[in-house]
Amino acid sequence: MKAWIAGTGSYTPARVLTNAELERMVATSDEWIRERTGIRERRIAATGEACSDLAVLAGKRALTAAGLAATDLDMILVATCTGDYPLPATACLVQHQLGATKAAACDLSAACCGFVYALSVADAYVKNGMRHVLVIGSEVMSAITDWTDRNTCVLFGDGAGAVVVSASDGERGILSTHLRSDGALCELIMVPGGGSRNPPSEKVIAERLQYIKMKGNETFKVAVRTLEEIARATLSANGLRVEDLDLYVPHQANLRILKAVMERLGLPIEKVLLNLDRYGNTSAASIPIALDEAVREGRIKDGSLVMLGAFGAGLTWASAVIRW
Ligand code: UT7
Repeated sequence: MKAWIAGTGSYTPARVLTNAELERMVATSDEWIRERTGIRERRIAATGEACSDLAVLAGKRALTAAGLAATDLDMILVATCTGDYPLPATACLVQHQLGATKAAACDLSAACCGFVYALSVADAYVKNGMRHVLVIGSEVMSAITDWTDRNTCVLFGDGAGAVVVSASDGERGILSTHLRSDGALCELIMVPGGGSRNPPSEKVIAERLQYIKMKGNETFKVAVRTLEEIARATLSANGLRVEDLDLYVPHQANLRILKAVMERLGLPIEKVLLNLDRYGNTSAASIPIALDEAVREGRIKDGSLVMLGAFGAGLTWASAVIRW
């Protein structure tokens, strides 16, 4: 028995923030952002629009695509690093809003790898007897972005993507998931303040420690190495070659990172889903938003072989192969 993806959905806020607008906020240029990252614009949540609001809309669309009601769900997993509150889990707010009265609900924190990690949890639960698990990646990165820091504020965006993972008897389904971590590199990407190490205080606010800090260039190098390594390990574990893949859906962090990975793997750009030009890096939401776009545009069809690849804070990196 396998777990398969029975439906996908996504939601991105209406507000578009362009590179031209960022030029007026920090010392940057549209040309620098496009050349160094591939990003043209990103979506920003409205005032008062929080992580669970985005997650509910993406989740509803995934349920509709799967032809299921919220009451069919056994579990809701929300992958996020920008939940509505430190406590309770955002997944519980989503459970209530959806009316998923029979579902367990909890969040999963693995930054940009959160969706792939949560997908692997759903895969295991479905193989263990659950029938339908809603997996959502939802982020309001704008809430933890320092809009005075040009090193980071040009990169991130807000959005949510969701999939319903259900039991399947056929050939289709999640073939394998692969999860890795290296906490020795935890300082490469970090929100230093607001947790138990540096609880909220005037000092935290004054030093802007509630915002994301990143050593971009070091992260870049590790990202290329880890994405290549995990892609090769994933293909080898399934007896597959790069040529067998119909689509690679990577975490949408930086076009130059992805081009380097494509080159190393010998993967043509036509087989890679790229939408970071329109959304930037939406952390745990990036892969499920891209998956939903690929399904709706017909780039993923029944029988397609799809590989996911993610990396992010932790550091973590992760992958999955799915026969659609
Ligand atoms: O999902 C989370 C994972 N995180 C990532 O994927 C991020 C990975 N890293 C990156 O995407 C890239 O490292 C960046 C896009 C963040 C930076 O590109 P880079 O080619 O690594 O540039 P750099 O950090 O080496 O900086 C080059 C120069 C620096 O100026 P100096 O020191 O050479 O004078 C920066 O200060 O570019 C400067 N710079 C900027 N200039 C204009 C940094 N940010 C900007 C900016 N606009 N927004």
